Amino acid sequence: MTLILGIETSCDETAAAVIANGHEIRSSVVASQIDLHRQYGGVFPEMASRQHVMAIQPVIEQAMSDAQAKWDDLSAIAVTYGPGLAGSLLVGVNVAKGLAYGRGLPLIGVNHLEAHIATNWLDASFQELPFPLLCMVVSGGHTELLLMGGYGEYHLLGSTIDDAAGEAFDKVARMLGLEYPGGPAIQRAAAKGNPASFSFPRARLDHRYDFSFSGLKTAVLRAIQQYEPSLQRPADKVPRREGADSQSAGASPRRGARASGSRPLHPKTVADMAASFQAVLVDTLVTKARQAATEYEVHGMLLAGGVAANQLLRGRMKAAVPVPVCMPPVALATDNATGVGVAGYWALIQDRTDDWDLDVVPNLRLT
Ligand code: KG4
Ligand code: ZN
Repeated sequence: MTLILGIETSCDETAAAVIANGHEIRSSVVASQIDLHRQYGGVFPEMASRQHVMAIQPVIEQAMSDAQAKWDDLSAIAVTYGPGLAGSLLVGVNVAKGLAYGRGLPLIGVNHLEAHIATNWLDASFQELPFPLLCMVVSGGHTELLLMGGYGEYHLLGSTIDDAAGEAFDKVARMLGLEYPGGPAIQRAAAKGNPASFSFPRARLDHRYDFSFSGLKTAVLRAIQQYEPSLQRPADKVPRREGADSQSAGASPRRGARASGSRPLHPKTVADMAASFQAVLVDTLVTKARQAATEYEVHGMLLAGGVAANQLLRGRMKAAVPVPVCMPPVALATDNATGVGVAGYWALIQDRTDDWDLDVVPNLRLT
């Protein structure tokens, strides 16, 4: 049996999981910092790394005890080394190095995006799909459409040229006065709204598999301003969770998402705007996935990342894409360590282990 301890600290969840044979979850522990960061309307990087320092040891001990695993039972330790917040990644990577060195175990650095994709292999039936597969990673820091030719083999078809899908959810939620994280908040508000109430634009881009959500976000802002001209706060004040500018992603204390003294929008207007925004964003993702699946004659599609928790996206993607669409259970779509353990397993059986100089790479890419 191959038993891997996976460790994840790329953003604001401290997580550890024990995975057997690449698909069996023996344990999965996630200590979320969301309640702490909510008051800032986004992730506060300094605070995130300090929280990881405090949480990492109990989280790992809990994962080992839940799995009833002894250190001698482990085959390797896998850890996220990028992309993400540098200070947060450092905590996980250094703890993983110390444990692996001390216990004489192989160390495996895992790309956070690959870990998201790998959560799909937890369902053994998905492992039977032959390559090539289409992958869509939609998270707080990334929106990427990839062609997967084999384990660890990715070809980028397109990505966002501005905001990531999750980032757009978070920013629009903030503009609407909804809480962080924005994705679940918008989904809840949208359930009571009419998606046809507002006609928000879809971006037209030169590269057909690229994405752009900043125009959509601005259109929501303009619509809000029509109801409430006093709203001046630019959405770009909301920090990104990970990716190119992750190291400078400083959240400012949140004094209320909307301009002080402004009238709150009527809940029905918020619901209608949330539903209209969500419908356009989801439709954009689904349309491009369907086109790519047909053009590249893939045998299946893997949906991954925090936005893959979105119910509308899950339903629409399954209905529209003409090949089997795999997606992790909702609880495993957002950050956790199970995918780190699964990706670690595939790396181990391909002899892809790392040396003790493994370092964090905040802007790490898949291709
Ligand atoms: O993958 P993840 O946990 O962290 C990153 O790697 O970024 O993704 C977090 C993102 C956030 O932007 C959050 O708003 C979004 O996933 N998200 C959702 C939903 N749940 C989380 N977006 C839309 N609908 C959801 N239900
Ligand atoms: Zn993530």
